[in-house]
Amino acid sequence: MTALSTAEMYLQDFHQRQPGVTSAAFGHLPARSASAHHASSYAVLSSLIADTDTPLTVLDLGCGDGHLLGLLAARQQPQLQLIGIDMSAAELAAARATLPPSVRLQQGRAQALDLASAAVDCLVSHMALMLMDDMEQVMREIRRVLRPGGQFAAIVGRTFLLGEVNDAFMDVFKPIANDALPPLRFGDRRAGSEAGWRELLDGGFAHVAFDDIDVPWSPTPHALWAALLDTYDIDRLDDVARQRLRQAFLDAVRCLQRADGTIATGWGSRLVRAQAA
Ligand SMILES: C[S@@+](CC[C@H](N)C(=O)[O-])C[C@H]1O[C@@H](n2cnc3c(N)ncnc32)[C@H](O)[C@@H]1O
Repeated sequence: MTALSTAEMYLQDFHQRQPGVTSAAFGHLPARSASAHHASSYAVLSSLIADTDTPLTVLDLGCGDGHLLGLLAARQQPQLQLIGIDMSAAELAAARATLPPSVRLQQGRAQALDLASAAVDCLVSHMALMLMDDMEQVMREIRRVLRPGGQFAAIVGRTFLLGEVNDAFMDVFKPIANDALPPLRFGDRRAGSEAGWRELLDGGFAHVAFDDIDVPWSPTPHALWAALLDTYDIDRLDDVARQRLRQAFLDAVRCLQRADGTIATGWGSRLVRAQAA
């Protein structure tokens, strides 16, 4: 692999320490769009892959521990060729340990895919593209490996937390981050909005469509804090700042607790779909 940026080095280090953290957070939670309910946000993407007898090559870009590839492999569709690419060796090792040997796994960066042009019918990606540097190059690579008419479908972040707890979190996080969080820019700002995605997909893609995908969750404040510890920015705080944030967060969300002790929240994501021109 070519030299990694500072953000990529941090991501490598995080995923080396915590492989499988994304599927642990999202894999067990149901997801819903305006028109459908799914077993999870991974299932949203797997539902977009045709159940067909004809050969189909699917690439999961930033596949992590292979949760989405596992859902696709479980379909036992004889002509479905599955490929996963990720830059994290630890995530790929976790994927290799659970996926059937027929699933091809490659370590590499999305900016330089080691695949032939037009080799892929469908490119899927779950919660990875919004982290990537040099998105214009990533999109050129995605377009290059997709055959004309091929499908692009990605789930990316839309909001951090759902509901009032998002503001409560941001109110306590921002001042602590200003004091104690070393600056580090993840990804391309455009990957956070529909307008930005239209720009990123301009030229090489047609039929661009979006769906808000909510992943509702009702944890206790302590369970929510435990999940937040596995997010990048909180991981990057030092221990003192993290303890300050924990106390401030638990105090701020107390008033949002319902009678059963839980808080109505979840993760807000977006499905981006397009067809390679
Ligand atoms: C939040 S995790 C999501 C993993 C998996 N898709 C899932 O949802 O379970 C993001 C993944 O993207 C990978 N990643 C980030 N930037 C990448 C890049 N430029 N090229 C390849 N993989 C990348 C990370 O190594 C990590 O495994």
